[in-house]
Amino acid sequence: MKGNYRQSLDSLEKSGRLRTLRPLTGRNGCRIVYRGREMLNLTSNDYLGLAGDKLVHRRFYAGMAEGNILDDFGLGAASSRLLTGDSENAHILEETLRHAYKKEACLLYNSGYHANIGILPALLGKHDLILSDKLNHASIMDGMRLSQAHHKRYRHLDYGHLADLLQGCRGTFERVVIVSESVFSMDGDVADLAALAALKNQYDCLLYIDEAHSIGMYGREGLGKAEEQGQLQHIDLLVGTFGKALASVGAFLLCSATIRNYLINHSRSLIFTTALPPVVLSWNRYIFEEMLTCHERRKKLRDLAAALRRELVGHRLQTDGSTNIVPVMIGDDRLAVTLAAAMQERGYLIFPVRPPAVPEGTARFRLSLTADMEWTDIAPVASHIAELTEQL
Ligand SMILES: Cc1ncc(COP(=O)(O)O)c(C=O)c1O
Repeated sequence: MKGNYRQSLDSLEKSGRLRTLRPLTGRNGCRIVYRGREMLNLTSNDYLGLAGDKLVHRRFYAGMAEGNILDDFGLGAASSRLLTGDSENAHILEETLRHAYKKEACLLYNSGYHANIGILPALLGKHDLILSDKLNHASIMDGMRLSQAHHKRYRHLDYGHLADLLQGCRGTFERVVIVSESVFSMDGDVADLAALAALKNQYDCLLYIDEAHSIGMYGREGLGKAEEQGQLQHIDLLVGTFGKALASVGAFLLCSATIRNYLINHSRSLIFTTALPPVVLSWNRYIFEEMLTCHERRKKLRDLAAALRRELVGHRLQTDGSTNIVPVMIGDDRLAVTLAAAMQERGYLIFPVRPPAVPEGTARFRLSLTADMEWTDIAPVASHIAELTEQL
């Protein structure tokens, strides 16, 4: 298929899988202007509503004038951290994160994608094994593929299957790493981190947890599912991202000091890329500290998600999970595309999620709730989907 690009695009279009870019022309909190009309944005990862909160932004800008960050460092880092791109803002941010998570060390990456493709290949070689949940994010899969380690995938959240794999082959490999998301981005379901930690201890492995969709929403301080489930101390490699609830860009790894130093010497997606701009690092620290105080937003989000799930079930729609990512199972790709377009007509921005982002035959909507929504915004969504499903 790769040989003929046009044919390939045509066949994607026929099967309802063609992806396109969609420019937005306006934004006001959870409402955005798309194709000339205002819609409720049910696709955003701005879970706490911080990216859309102009007051928070203004407070940051006001403080920036005093700190003079623009005069000191400008807007671009201009080189890799290993050259002269290593502003002190990076170290202050790492220290802030390390302290909040009570971990030995923290290392920044330019994005979650950079982190996941840079950590696994650096740490694992051909005598090692990666055991990954089958529904882990594409960036984790790409990290596994780039690594020279062997890899196997266990059935989604099936820790019996994971235990069988460990039982069968732990002795064959030098190091084994278990990798899982904590909140799964497409299904909104949650890993049992205590079960994973028990297996890690029993079989002497490393535990790698990607908290991209959980930081900000869970735990007493919003540190994520590992905090909520009391498992922070058992996680050897904890990846968090700034691009979702933290309303920015970038990522961080919490780990031991030795692993941090090792990655600085071996992690290609850290070494061979320009560092994040100092102003972004400064915002990341500001927004992380703001996030720690967002208790009300966390509670509101939980309540909204529980109420939406009840509505969906009441309309006999199939949903799953327990987080603010609320899937609605549609099944057929083309039906998902048509339904999403019809929902947009009614003022709800929903995109269909189709294979390969999800397994074949499981096209769905991924309704993403954010704390700046009100129940009156969301309440009609289930009845609209149910009505349209009957009509189409
Ligand atoms: C679980 C998970 N990890 C990592 C990433 C990548 O993060 P970033 O957007 O910061 O590259 C994503 C992005 O959607 C994700 O869902």
